[in-house]
Amino acid sequence: MSELITGIGELHTVDPARGADSVLRDAAVVVEDGLIAWIGRASEAPAADRAVDVEGRAVLPGWVDSHTHLVFAGDRGEEFAVRMAGEAYAAGGIGVTTNATREASDETLRGLVAGRVRDAVAGGTTYVETKTGYGLDVEQELRAAKIAAGAADEVTFLGAHLVPEGADPDEYVELVCGPMLGAVAPYVQWADVFCERGAFNPEQSRRVLEACRDAGLGLRVHGNQIGPGEGVSLAVELGAASVDHCNFLSDEDVAALAGSDTVATVLPACDLSTRAPLAPARELLDAGATVAIASNCNPGTSYTTSMNFCVATAVLQMKLTVDEAIRAATLGGAKALRRDVSTPGRPAVGHLAVGTRADLHVLDAPQAVHLAYRPGMPLTWGVWRAGRREIG
Ligand code: NIG
Repeated sequence: MSELITGIGELHTVDPARGADSVLRDAAVVVEDGLIAWIGRASEAPAADRAVDVEGRAVLPGWVDSHTHLVFAGDRGEEFAVRMAGEAYAAGGIGVTTNATREASDETLRGLVAGRVRDAVAGGTTYVETKTGYGLDVEQELRAAKIAAGAADEVTFLGAHLVPEGADPDEYVELVCGPMLGAVAPYVQWADVFCERGAFNPEQSRRVLEACRDAGLGLRVHGNQIGPGEGVSLAVELGAASVDHCNFLSDEDVAALAGSDTVATVLPACDLSTRAPLAPARELLDAGATVAIASNCNPGTSYTTSMNFCVATAVLQMKLTVDEAIRAATLGGAKALRRDVSTPGRPAVGHLAVGTRADLHVLDAPQAVHLAYRPGMPLTWGVWRAGRREIG
């Protein structure tokens, strides 16, 4: 069954092969078997089994949210209120969420995660990564990995999120690198470590990353969020797919990212919610680094799955152009997950071209600039995910 989507006022293909001409006007797309089968001028569109006219609206690839922590129970509204009264963010709240998550039943936790994915899709997200990291023992991390694998497109093992209260840090690292990694490995594709003062030091982080790499997992790092440090240099040295947060970067960090394949993932909603210095997305792009924008949905530092909000913030506060922000929240996220190129049986996500996954985000606006021009408005009109219309 093929479907022709026509009447597209502005089509942001974000297709690297189109270079500077990646926005098409008066366009149409044909979707078939979950993939983009044709793309071009509406007047030249082939016939299809079914047609949908989006009446001049703007269409983008669905958002690729490459950094979330959706497997949690409870909330930390009180901690947030204290922060808004002037307290700084410290990673200790992770323990509060770990306790709440451990107390939730499997069914409750599955329902919470599914609801968060539904909210994300309703806001235009069509591909989502999520993490473990609120379990912090073998049984609970395994449970989180299984629940995440049932709900998200990609799963990251973040056993090294925080040393649990009362545990010896080096013994905990050995647990993460041994029995915990062995238990979760069948359910995850990625491993991550929170390399930060108050979490894991560079030596411990390296130990975790190398063990996970040896187990066949791709690597990512939470780095340079709370202060300057070695998260970025470690990520680049080990060839991590991304280093996420990037609030406190030295000139050397920026240059290292620009000279590497490690994507710098910025998390605008988290920066606002922690009142941190905004990650230097403008400087990173100007230096030639690849930047991704993600929601970082979690109960401590960024309780939102709204990529529309993140994109608007990146434009309004981080000084990206609308096109740069769209690229970072689509192709950038796909690069951070190494899903930007099609391989047999795995179509690329994050851009629109013949053969990519048919992930479409239709805005209730004639131009994508409305994402920043009308921030906070309900601009998601329709969503196709792998060729299936899920919203609209
Ligand atoms: O990405 N930085 C570490 N992890 C989360 C916060 C987790 C929490 O405070 O619960 C983050 O911001």
